[in-house]
Order: sequence, then structure tokens, then C-alpha cells
Amino acid sequence: MSMEFKGIPWLILAQVLASFFNVHAYVPAVIVFGDSSVDSGNNNQIPTLLKSNFEPYGRDFIGRKPTGRFCNGRLPTDFISEAFGLKPTVPAYLDPDYNITDFATGVCFASAGTGYDNVTSDVLNVIPLWKEVEYFKEYQERLKGYLGNEKASEVLGEALYLISIGTNDFLENYYLLPHRQFEFSEEEYENFLVGIASNFVNELYRLGARKISLGGLPPMGCLPLERTTDIFFGSVCVEEYNDVAHDFNEKLKALVEQLNKQLPGIRLVLSNPYDLLLEMIQNPESFGFESTAVACCATGLFELGYLCNKFSHFTCIDANKYVFWDSFHPTEKTNAIIAGHVVKASLAQFL
Ligand SMILES: *[C@@H]1O[C@H](CO)[C@@H](O)[C@H](O)[C@H]1NC(C)=O
Ligand SMILES: *[C@@H]1O[C@H](CO)[C@@H](O)[C@H](O)[C@H]1NC(C)=O
Repeated sequence: MSMEFKGIPWLILAQVLASFFNVHAYVPAVIVFGDSSVDSGNNNQIPTLLKSNFEPYGRDFIGRKPTGRFCNGRLPTDFISEAFGLKPTVPAYLDPDYNITDFATGVCFASAGTGYDNVTSDVLNVIPLWKEVEYFKEYQERLKGYLGNEKASEVLGEALYLISIGTNDFLENYYLLPHRQFEFSEEEYENFLVGIASNFVNELYRLGARKISLGGLPPMGCLPLERTTDIFFGSVCVEEYNDVAHDFNEKLKALVEQLNKQLPGIRLVLSNPYDLLLEMIQNPESFGFESTAVACCATGLFELGYLCNKFSHFTCIDANKYVFWDSFHPTEKTNAIIAGHVVKASLAQFL
């Protein structure tokens, strides 16, 4: 008997076994919630100042189109959708150019500038997280009308739900405005947000979601907008912000473990970009980057949204040499690297 296996490379055998067990693994749609890290154009349709549907945003996107993505090209969620054999871009739910036919295989409810905390979305008058859920419920009804109840339920149950949110709660709200700082210590505020994250995942579960990825925070003290000048070392990351992001991610990790035990049939994972992004920032050359402290758009120090526009003479020529596109958001190249990592490290079980 054993002779028959002689010469069959172990790896191939392992792959055959893996594909046997994965025979039912399939993801018919990608469904996205969150902030500007994953908003593919919802803010274009709402009365907020936080928009990016103009040049040079989107200059490396398909058709060189500024879609409202805060990037020169695609977002991590676009790359993830493609990795799952779905569309190369995930359309925004509020975009009138798309309808339920498109949304049946991928839809994005994210809104730039939003957070877990309702106070955060109020700052720039964007879509609060609870409202993203309301849109999701409306979507479920539309999907049932389009596919029929049974098929729609299957899609909603097998879909991959991607959540990326939380940075703005700290950078646009907690550290900038007095309100929450008066109420909460850093630690208390982290716990407050983790509580909202827990309720949010519970609600998605109740609405039929099973395969869910909760995104960790980036090393947010290293975003060009947050860096400060040190007279000896030049531009440096704010360690306090990085520490908070790191702590918060540890709390999310514990939450993920806890919810996997509590909710039968859920497959919740943490997709954490923190370490990889920090490595890119500290060792840019090994990823082919040249600049990490300064972004590509305009002077690269503080511009985002309307301040990153085609009238700036300073915008870089080749965004692939930069980790950051504007002072708050990664370039398409960075997004592709992060998506590749997340697919391998945490989403592979759904492939
Ligand atoms: C969605 O739009 C496409 C092309 O514009 C069209 O062919 C299709 O019938 C539309 N689907 C629905 C459900 O309206
Ligand atoms: C946020 O606002 C919504 C709508 O008013 C409310 O239902 C929800 O409880 C609020 N969330 C928190 C954490 O206060």
C-alpha cells in the first residue's frame, strides 16, 4: 500500500486533502463596513466636506477615475474581492451607477470619517455605523427581491463580511475634541469602542452573517498627518498613538476569541495590518518604497480630501515609491501588500 504513495510529493497530497475538505468553501459576495480605509464612494452622495471624488485621487485606478476612494488606486477590500474570484472592485451602495445586480456579488456601506462612536461620525457629518447597518438591512430586502428568499439567504450566509473602522474614533474625535476625553480615560474609551464592536458583530450575526473579518487599527501614530517633528530625529511617529492602536488590537483579539465561543457557527477573524504596516514604515526599502514619513499628494505633510487636489505642484510622480498617498491614507501599492497579507494570514480559511 505505502508504495503507491512513494514519489507523490507530500505537499501535493496535502493540497488534495485540503481541497477535499474545502469543497463547500465558497464566498459569493464581499460585504464591507467601515471608514475611509474601505469607502469606495458613499461619501460622494452625502453632504460632507470629506470627499475625494476629484483628481489626483484615482489617478492609477481603472480608467483613471476618481471614485471617492481615498487612494490613487484600489483599496484592500477591492484586492480581497478579487482574491476570492469576485469583482476587482467593490461598488459603493449609494453610488447611482450601480444596482442590485452589481451589489449581489459585493457591496460597500463604508463612509470616510466615520467610527464606532456616534460622536465621531458627527464631526464631519458622515454615515454613522448604525446607519451602515440600516442600509445593510435595506440591501437584504433588495437582494431577496432580486434573487428570491432562499438564494438571497444563502448568499448572505456564505458572504464574507469585512469591517475596517476605529482610527477616526481616536484621531478625529478622542485626541482632537474635549467631549470624550472629559468622559473617558484612553483605556476606558478603548473598552467603550470594543463594546460597540461587540454589539455590531452580534447584530451582523443576528442578521445572518457568519464569515466575518474584524480589522485591527494601523500604527496610527505613523500616519504623516500625525507625525511630529523631533529636533534630533526629524519627523517621528507618535508612540502614544501607536501604543493605543496596539492595545486596542489586543482587545479586539480577545473579543474575537470570546465571540467565536459564544456565537454558534460564527467564523470571526481579526485581520490585523499593524505589524506589517509598521515594518513597511521602518524598512521601506525592502518593499520597494522610498518615502514613508511624507505622502505622495501635495506636500505630503498634512493634505487630504479637498487639500489634496490637482492644483498642487508638489504631488509625486510615482505613487508606488510611497507608503502613503495622502497624509492619512496608504497608496494602492501599500493596500495591495496589506490585502495579500490579510488574505494569507486570516482569510485563507474562507477561500
Ligand atoms: C442593473 O443595471 C444593468 C445595466 O445597467 C441592467 O442590465 C440590469 O437589468 C439592472 N438590474 C436591475 C435589477 O435593475
Ligand atoms: C448611536 O446612535 C443610534 C441612533 O440614535 C443609537 O441607536 C445607538 O444606541 C447609539 N450608539 C451608542 C453606542 O450610543
